[in-house]
Amino acid sequence: MVKMLQCLVVLVSLVVSVHGLDNGLALTPPMGWMSWERFRCNIDCKNQPNDCIGEKLFMDMADRMVEDGFKDAGYEYVNIDDCWASKERDSAGKLQADPDRFPSGIKKLADYVHSRGLKLGIYNDFGTKTCGGYPGSLGHLEVDAKTFAEWGVDMLKMDGCYADVKTMPQGYPNMTKALNATGRPILFSCSWPDYERASKIQPDYKLIAKNCNIWRNYIDIQDSWDSVLKIIDYYAQEQDTLAAVSAPGSFNDPDMLIIGDFSLSVEQAKAQMAMWSILAAPMLMSNDLRTISPEFREILLNKEVIQINQDPSGKMGKRVMQDGDIEVWTKSLDLWEEHAVTYLNRGDSNQRVSLQLKNIGFDYILGYEVRDILNHIEIGHREREGNFTVTVPAKGAYMIYAYPSE
Ligand SMILES: *[C@@H]1O[C@H](CO)[C@@H](O)[C@H](O)[C@H]1NC(C)=O
Ligand SMILES: *[C@@H]1O[C@H](CO)[C@@H](O)[C@H](O)[C@H]1NC(C)=O
Repeated sequence: MVKMLQCLVVLVSLVVSVHGLDNGLALTPPMGWMSWERFRCNIDCKNQPNDCIGEKLFMDMADRMVEDGFKDAGYEYVNIDDCWASKERDSAGKLQADPDRFPSGIKKLADYVHSRGLKLGIYNDFGTKTCGGYPGSLGHLEVDAKTFAEWGVDMLKMDGCYADVKTMPQGYPNMTKALNATGRPILFSCSWPDYERASKIQPDYKLIAKNCNIWRNYIDIQDSWDSVLKIIDYYAQEQDTLAAVSAPGSFNDPDMLIIGDFSLSVEQAKAQMAMWSILAAPMLMSNDLRTISPEFREILLNKEVIQINQDPSGKMGKRVMQDGDIEVWTKSLDLWEEHAVTYLNRGDSNQRVSLQLKNIGFDYILGYEVRDILNHIEIGHREREGNFTVTVPAKGAYMIYAYPSE
C-alpha cells in the first residue's frame, strides 16, 4: 500500500512538473525576432535612423516578418530589448518610452504589431537599472507589470543587471505574480539562472520552470561561430539538468539566432538552426530582415527543421556521442519512435560518420524512413542495425528526421 502511494505521488508530481508556468503560453518554443545581438543599444536615431532602437526598426521588422514568409513559418514575437525607455519614469512613477525614438509610444507600436497579426515583446530589469543604464524595476514590479499589460505587451524579458542575485529566487516569482495579476497573458523570459550561474549559485530549475516560460542559462551570444560552440558546450555539460525541465510552457533559452548576420557561413548558419532545433530552443532571430540574403532567409524558413523545434513534446535533445570533432545529438519526438538527429562537425574538413541507428536509441524492429531535413533530401529506408553513413560538412551540421517504416 505504501509502495503504491509512493508510486502515485511520483506519478502525480511527474504530471505536474511537465507543465511549467501556467499562463497558457509557450506550449512550444516561442519564435520571433529580438533587437539585441544585431542592434544593441544604438540610440543614435539622428545619424542612423534605420538602425537605432526606435519605433521604425520594430515596425520594419514586423513588416518583413509578414511579407517575407517568417510569420507563415511560425515567427510571431517582435521583441524590443534594452534601451527603449526614457531615462526617467513619468510623474506617476511609470516607465515611459524615449519620446524622440518612440514618438507614438509603445501602445501604438503594439497596436501596429498586432494589426500585422504578430505579438510585441519588451524588456526590463530586475535590479535598480537595466544593463544599459535605463530605469530598473526594483520596487516597481506591480506598476511595471500593469504598464506593460495596459500597452498590450505580449512578452517580457526581465534581465538581471544591478541586482542582488540572492534575492532573485523570490523576486522573479514576485514579477510572475504581478504579471498574472494583470489578467493579460504575458510570456515571461527570465535571466535569473544566468546570473546565478555567474555567481556560482546552483539554479533551482524546478522553481524557475514554475515561474518563467523561458530562461537564459548562459552568457549572451555574440556574432561568432566560437560563441555558438561555447553555448553548445555549456548545454552538453549541463544537459541532464536542463533537459529535465524542458517541457510545454517552459524552455531553456540558449539565446538568439545570429543567422544572416556578419560572421556565420552558410554551413555554420545551418548548424545553429539544426542545434537550436534539437535543443527545443526559442527561435528568436537577431538580424536585419530588410537586408538578409536569400540563402540565410531560406535556412531560417526551413519548415522541416522548425517542425522538429516545435515538436509538441517540448523535449530538449541530448548529446549521445562524441568522437573528436564530431558530436551526435538526438531527440525523440512526440509520436512513437520518431526521432531527430543533429550531427555537428567542429573540424576543418568534411567527415564521414558511420553508426548503427540502434546505438542512438532507435528501437523499432522494422526500421525507419529517413530524411535529410537541412537539405530536403529523401534518404529512404534504413535498418536499425547495419551502418548508417552520412557526410557532415566542415564547421557545419547534418540533420535527419526518421519515422518508423510500415
Ligand atoms: C517578494 O514579495 C514579498 C511579498 O510581497 C516581499 O516580502 C519580498 O520582499 C519580495 N521580494 C523581492 C526580492 O522582491
Ligand atoms: C494566472 O494563474 C492562474 C493559476 O496558475 C492561471 O490559471 C491563469 O491562466 C493565469 N493568468 C494569466 C493572465 O497569466
